[in-house]
Amino acid sequence: MTIARGSLQERVQRLGPWFHNLRLDDSGDIQTAPDHPLGDFPTNYWRFFQHVVPENLSGLSVLDIGCNAGFYSFELKRRGAARVLGLDHSLDYLAQARFAREQLGLHDVEFRRMEVYDVDRLAGEQFDLVLFLGVFYHLRHPLLALERVARLVRGRLLFQTMERGSREIGEVAEDYPISEQDVFLDERFPRMHFVEHGYAGDPTNWWIPNVAASLAMLRSVGLRVVDRPCREVYVCEPEAAASVGRPGAGSAS
Ligand SMILES: C[S@@+](CC[C@H](N)C(=O)[O-])C[C@H]1O[C@@H](n2cnc3c(N)ncnc32)[C@H](O)[C@@H]1O
Repeated sequence: MTIARGSLQERVQRLGPWFHNLRLDDSGDIQTAPDHPLGDFPTNYWRFFQHVVPENLSGLSVLDIGCNAGFYSFELKRRGAARVLGLDHSLDYLAQARFAREQLGLHDVEFRRMEVYDVDRLAGEQFDLVLFLGVFYHLRHPLLALERVARLVRGRLLFQTMERGSREIGEVAEDYPISEQDVFLDERFPRMHFVEHGYAGDPTNWWIPNVAASLAMLRSVGLRVVDRPCREVYVCEPEAAASVGRPGAGSAS
């Protein structure tokens, strides 16, 4: 059900603040976050990597983890995905997503409240395309989450994380003697930066990898990076015979 312009604007205000700037009417006049500090977000950001997703997703299933107000879920539904499921742990963001869904007439996009650590509850389901964008660095236990997310990927994972530190990638040996110390001083070694207090005014930023750590952690959960369309964005596929963790060391879950 769509509602009159004045009250639409009012509902948008009441559901705010919004992180996703969505256009809720045909003219594009009703926007949910027109003054976003990152500009027209995520429309502008999506332009950097939208070409890695097929224009036609008909028959395919999509999982959008940390869907927020649903920008990506809606974009992929518009590309014809048979099933789109968006998950988020925030009731406020889910209320925005459900409201936007009705306004946009994309009624069969499904939104569910779920912690990323609980995605196992999807009970063995797998998805042709999984989006895990802008969530990783917000997690206190990022590798645990990534491990669980990776299991849901039948086709491809689109992964994005904030990154800091060196963008160079060093060689990583299979093993090092305990006397080796220099490698840890090399900024090209995989590093996670722990944010004890806050970063960018956001107390939910916890662990920020460098590029080498993003790549190493994706490999470590059995994913192969097949494309890097722009900074901080990775297109991954499950390794044919995926091994998680290290031989003999087991995994956390
Ligand atoms: C920076 S926003 C990214 C939103 C969207 N994926 C994007 O890329 O524009 C992070 C989103 O992840 C959600 N989120 C953060 N931690 C989560 C968790 N542990 N489980 C589920 N959702 C989480 C937040 O509520 C928020 O909607």
